[in-house]
Amino acid sequence: MRKGVVTFLLVTVVVLGFAVHNVWTLLTLLVIDGSEDQISKAELPAPNSVAISERPQLIPKIIHQTYINETLPPRWIEPQQSCLDLHPDYEYKLWTDKKAREFIAAEYPWFLETFDAYPYPIQRADAIRYFVLHHFGGIYIDLDDGCNRSLDPLLAYPAWVRRTHPTGISNDAMGAIPRHPFFLKAIDSLPEYNRKWILPYITVMASTGPLYLSIIWRHYSSTDPQGDDRVRILFPDEYQNHPWSFFTHHVGNSWHNNDVKLIFWMAQHWIFLTVVGFAVGFSLLFCIYQTCIRPRQQANNSKARFSYSRIPFYRRISGKDIELDDRHQV
Ligand SMILES: *[C@@H]1O[C@H](CO)[C@@H](O)[C@H](O)[C@H]1NC(C)=O
Repeated sequence: MRKGVVTFLLVTVVVLGFAVHNVWTLLTLLVIDGSEDQISKAELPAPNSVAISERPQLIPKIIHQTYINETLPPRWIEPQQSCLDLHPDYEYKLWTDKKAREFIAAEYPWFLETFDAYPYPIQRADAIRYFVLHHFGGIYIDLDDGCNRSLDPLLAYPAWVRRTHPTGISNDAMGAIPRHPFFLKAIDSLPEYNRKWILPYITVMASTGPLYLSIIWRHYSSTDPQGDDRVRILFPDEYQNHPWSFFTHHVGNSWHNNDVKLIFWMAQHWIFLTVVGFAVGFSLLFCIYQTCIRPRQQANNSKARFSYSRIPFYRRISGKDIELDDRHQV
């Protein structure tokens, strides 16, 4: 094979390998559904079953929620109250912006600088939930999620999160014992993932939000944690929309912006976008091949420039003596 073709193929392989390596965790999210850690229907007692009280209660009875201040918008009073009503024996903690900052400053001062510097308030609301679960344990619930039945059966799992569609896990309802290694990893990795992306939505998702937690979850699960270190997964049927589900969903998403529509569209059409992405990528490579590598080979052949390979590398890259000639000839 021609030297140029070999180089071209090598570069292509390296670039592709690098790209795949970088998004490998994301790609595994498309095929790994967490079913090996699923909290199955069969192991969950029916609502009000006596079996519930016979299960271990590992997670402390604390409900955590977050909001800017103590004055909740009217649309969230009802879901909040539904959780309070079903859990009279639980401690309730509403993490306002002020309380959240004080808590981080007192208990996790190493994180305060990152916490304060987040450009979007929702990033602080995302981060604080991992810290309070790590510190106190308990169950975190988004304010737009109401409760449909007592969460007592879920206290039996040292850590659980919720599966989302089409991929990954969500951070809108989660439970854990204090100091669970998964939430330790979730708080420890926050500074490293604190990067800015072009769209605010991606920045939030990937630095603190569900995408961030999904990636941490993939890394964590790939070490095959056993026993109490496992993270169990609540699947959609147990999560909402059925009489036996734990939660109800109310209108929420107080922070969504314009770029969200684009992202949701992209999420819905990800197969199409992947195909287009590969097509564009390969067309680009083909064009590079056609314009840079082939003309040189032809020049080499037609003008028998056998000494070409002895031309210094930088001269070859600039390609003045060959490429420009060629273009004039065409
Ligand atoms: C709480 O925050 C909301 C939303 O920013 C604001 O409208 C309201 O005035 C605040 N309430 C208090 C008591 O500060």
